[in-house]
Amino acid sequence: MISVRSLSHAFGTKQVLKNINLEVSEGEIVAIMGSSGGGKTTLLRCIAGLINATEGEVTVNSTSVYREPEKARLSMGMVFQSAALFDYLPVSQNILFGVRRHLKLNKRDEDALLTDSLARVSLKGSENLYPSELSGGMKKRVGMARAIALSPKVILYDEPTTGLDPITTYQIDQLITDLRKNLGVTSLVVSHDLASVQRIADRIAFLDQGEIVYLGPTAGFLQSDHPAIQELVQKSQTTTLL
Ligand SMILES: Nc1ncnc2c1ncn2[C@@H]1O[C@H](COP(=O)(O)OP(=O)(O)O)[C@@H](O)[C@H]1O
Ligand SMILES: [Mg+2]
Repeated sequence: MISVRSLSHAFGTKQVLKNINLEVSEGEIVAIMGSSGGGKTTLLRCIAGLINATEGEVTVNSTSVYREPEKARLSMGMVFQSAALFDYLPVSQNILFGVRRHLKLNKRDEDALLTDSLARVSLKGSENLYPSELSGGMKKRVGMARAIALSPKVILYDEPTTGLDPITTYQIDQLITDLRKNLGVTSLVVSHDLASVQRIADRIAFLDQGEIVYLGPTAGFLQSDHPAIQELVQKSQTTTLL
């Protein structure tokens, strides 16, 4: 469903991604982990076609992201780290914003789509609230409702649980796996929360200084002897004990 081949990216002279290769099957949930500044967000943006990688190819649902960006983008939903909602628009307009750019729906179909998208993220009845009236977790869920409104095959998440309390994190994790179960969505999830990743991901890709240094099952990740991975694992164990 997602194929990244020999992808490299530089901002000016700064090489941020080096020869990334990643294949993600339909319905799979793959977590992208790694140190801060390691290139996780950049990789997600290169896959979404928001950045043209300096080298390499990306195809999503068999469409080249760089050669047919408009078509490729129709297969993808993106959940941004900051939720990225329009503060001056109610939840309904935030969700329908992208829909109206791509589909001409009558009022009844629009309402049905809105109701369905909100129900999937357990926010039924919130359409008239403004972002300032929402908690952090609710904002993330509105971001998810917006991403799923166009029934994408692929959803890209940038740190969907960062800054959330453990219970809300658990609910977002549940939603990500529900979307796979109910809609067969393929997911790439940037995260630094190992507990959350262990709950949801089939595989982990770990980025260190722009290179994938681990790509494999979530189970084998803990045994990796890469120093950056060992550090993350130890840090997570300490946090869990506290
Ligand atoms: N638009 C940009 N212009 C220049 N440098 C950038 C830009 N976006 C990110 N970077 C740099 O690329 C590196 C990787 O950033 P990023 O992908 O955001 O890392 P991560 O998400 O893993 O924390 C960082 O050193 C960052 O400063
Ligand atoms: Mg980032």
